[in-house]
Amino acid sequence: MKLFLDTASVDEIKVINDIGVLDGVTTNPSLVAKEKSNFRGILKEICGLVKGPVSAEVVATEYEGMIKEGTELAKMADNIVVKVPLLKDGVKAVGKFTSLGIKTNVTLIFSPLQALLAAKTGASYVSPFVGRLDDVSHEGLQLVEEIITIFDQYEYKTQVLVASVRHPLHLVDAAMLGADVATMPFKVFDQIFRHPLTDVGLKTFLADWEKGKKQI
Ligand code: E4P
Repeated sequence: MKLFLDTASVDEIKVINDIGVLDGVTTNPSLVAKEKSNFRGILKEICGLVKGPVSAEVVATEYEGMIKEGTELAKMADNIVVKVPLLKDGVKAVGKFTSLGIKTNVTLIFSPLQALLAAKTGASYVSPFVGRLDDVSHEGLQLVEEIITIFDQYEYKTQVLVASVRHPLHLVDAAMLGADVATMPFKVFDQIFRHPLTDVGLKTFLADWEKGKKQI
């Protein structure tokens, strides 16, 4: 499973990218609004840092506007993926982007049939929001399972990108279901490096080493 960061913070991206485990980045208008620089400036910097796909979302909600914004975004770097909300106009725009060879990520997916509609027009990724479904007492990971099952039946090439990840268990479950990608906030990416037994074990190893005073 590929691991993406869900952030528009260049500082956060640098930390994970430097370790060599970052496969891509997703942004959304709320994340971009938190940053000081302008959208294009941020995107240019992120696309220069990260080799993998970088999702940049359109804010237009009708077809023509989405096509205009999306084609401009796609020109900014080879690794831009145009993120489009699941609306009728959004699905139509995805068809156009597909015909132009522009990669797309269809966002705000909350049902398996929404994912099917996005796949039909050639979406590169669909983003089911697991955390937001859990928040309203629906099993977010069940949606991921349903989408994967449906895509497998018909051999759609659209990748399942698990979004709105809130904790490491979401990632374990997503990986066990065979999701293609999971995108997560920096806090969760940081958490998956850690285990209390790793810390305790390392402390003991180093203390024993000191006691033994062996030469390297
Ligand atoms: C996905 O691409 C979205 O940016 C994101 O995962 C939304 O997550 P949230 O529900 O934590 O805002």
